[in-house]
Amino acid sequence: MQNINKIINGKMYADSLLREILPLSSNYSDKFLRNPCLAVILVGEDPASKIYVKNKLLTAERNNIKSIEIKLLKETTEEHLLNEISKLNKDTNVDGILVQLPLPVHISEKLVIQSIDPLKDVDGFHPTNFGALFMGDPNFIPCTPLGCFYMLKKELKNLDGKNAVIIGRSNIVGKPMASLLLSSNCTVTITHSKTKNLREHCRNADILISAIGRPEIIDETYIKPNAIVIDVGINRLDLNNIKTNEKKYKLVGDVRFEKVINIAQKITPVPGGVGPMTIACLMHNTVKAAYMNKNEDFVNIIEGFS
Ligand code: GUN
Repeated sequence: MQNINKIINGKMYADSLLREILPLSSNYSDKFLRNPCLAVILVGEDPASKIYVKNKLLTAERNNIKSIEIKLLKETTEEHLLNEISKLNKDTNVDGILVQLPLPVHISEKLVIQSIDPLKDVDGFHPTNFGALFMGDPNFIPCTPLGCFYMLKKELKNLDGKNAVIIGRSNIVGKPMASLLLSSNCTVTITHSKTKNLREHCRNADILISAIGRPEIIDETYIKPNAIVIDVGINRLDLNNIKTNEKKYKLVGDVRFEKVINIAQKITPVPGGVGPMTIACLMHNTVKAAYMNKNEDFVNIIEGFS
């Protein structure tokens, strides 16, 4: 197979999902005389977080979703942030609430996540939603693993009996990803920074999901021939020119794309792989929250879930 055919085009999948979501959000506006509404809170000035939030707001606007951006200084107190969330919880015109992570160290992420109304928790991080996912009865599923899962279902259709190996055990990606794959009958291994013989585990993977956050550390020696590789890492490599003082950077994944593509059956690129799918899934969850807010049925458009 030519290498170009091995690329899993996340941008294309995201556009196709958004094409299904747009009529749902337009019908919502016709029926309820307002657009679905997403509130995004950004605390501080983290450059990567600023870009992610900007892309989320832009995509919302393009898909008939109203967005409210709340920017708070990095010195903001936990109490102030919790108070903002409480106001959004009470506002019946706000359907989804997202607090961009990571938060400054003086604010407890756990407290913040627990303070979001589970019915507005479009990130799916609240213990109620997280627990429901693990019990096989999900409501809001975290956007990044949901996006990875969507692409895997489109590529493979049937995941029964596949060996899936996840690198990374975070609540944002690794753990919910494991739950999704398990519910689709994969045999799942979660590996992490203390895992012994990481390479051997990975070489056993029919599906390899990497969410480590270290640039290009997974090379071809970690890959089983014909594996499907999903690269969740978005790492900034600084390419600053000391002579001209020009500041530049390049985005790379956890996986050494040019090498791994020769061995894998399919692979997601960075950028243009998991990133656009994460945002499309956020739009999906927001429109779903809006329908639920009005006690209306929402026909889940992501395969495998009702
Ligand atoms: N930071 C990195 N990924 C995410 C995400 O999916 N949601 C939020 N809220 N913050 C993040």
